[in-house]
Amino acid sequence: MAVQINPSILSADFARLADEAKAVEGADWLHVDVMDNHFVPNLTLGVPIVESLVRATDIPLDCHLMIEDADRWAPQYVEAGAGSVTFHVEAAAAPVRLAREIRAKGARASMALKPATPIEPYEDLLPELDMLLIMTVEPGFGGQAFLDIMLPKIRRTRELISKHGLELWLQVDGGVSASTIEQCAEAGADVFVAGSAVYGAGDPAEAVRALRAQAER
Ligand code: DX5
Ligand code: ZN
Repeated sequence: MAVQINPSILSADFARLADEAKAVEGADWLHVDVMDNHFVPNLTLGVPIVESLVRATDIPLDCHLMIEDADRWAPQYVEAGAGSVTFHVEAAAAPVRLAREIRAKGARASMALKPATPIEPYEDLLPELDMLLIMTVEPGFGGQAFLDIMLPKIRRTRELISKHGLELWLQVDGGVSASTIEQCAEAGADVFVAGSAVYGAGDPAEAVRALRAQAER
C-alpha cells in the first residue's frame, strides 16, 4: 500500500495554475476540484481548464467532480486528459455503467462518498473501481476542519477492500494536514488529498514531502 500525496489546486492561485503545478514537484497526482454550484454551493472550473492543465504539467490529474449529472459529464474529463476521474455516487444515476465507461475510455475510475453516505450499500461495486474517495469534510470548500467521525468509515472500507482482495486505492479528502494525516493512514487510507496544508505552506513541495513522511510512518 504505497502512500500517495495529491495536492488540491483549490487552494492554489487560479491565475497561475501552471506555476502552482510546478510548485508541488514530487506530488503523485494533482487533485482538481470541479464544482458546479449545484451539487455543492461553490463554482470552480471545467473541461477547458482541465485540458490546459494537462498540457501545462507532467503530473497526472486526479479530477474530483462535485457536480450533478455525473453520468453525462464525467466521460468528458477523461477525454480532456484526466488520468483519474472521481464522481460522487450521490450524483450518478448509474454508477456501475459510469465506472465502466471511465475505464473503457482509459482513465482510472473512482467514486466518492459524502460524509453521510455509508459504504455498506456499495460493497458489491468495489471491483468496478480503481479508487474510492471518502470525504472527511462536507464537499464544497477548502480549509475546513477534518471530520474525525469519518475514521470508522475509513477503517470499515479498508476491511472490505482486504476481504475482497481488491487493489483499489482508498483516498481521503478534506482537512488532511500534519495533525490529521497519521490518523487517516492508520485507519487504512493510502491516497491523501491536501489543499490548504500544501498551498498554505511557505514551501509547497516541502509540505508534500513532510506529509508523505508522516503517512509512511
Ligand atoms: C473540498 C475539496 C477538497 C479541498 C480540500 O470539497 O474536495 O479537495 O480542496 O481542501 P483542504 O485540504 O484545505 O481541506
Ligand atoms: Zn477534492
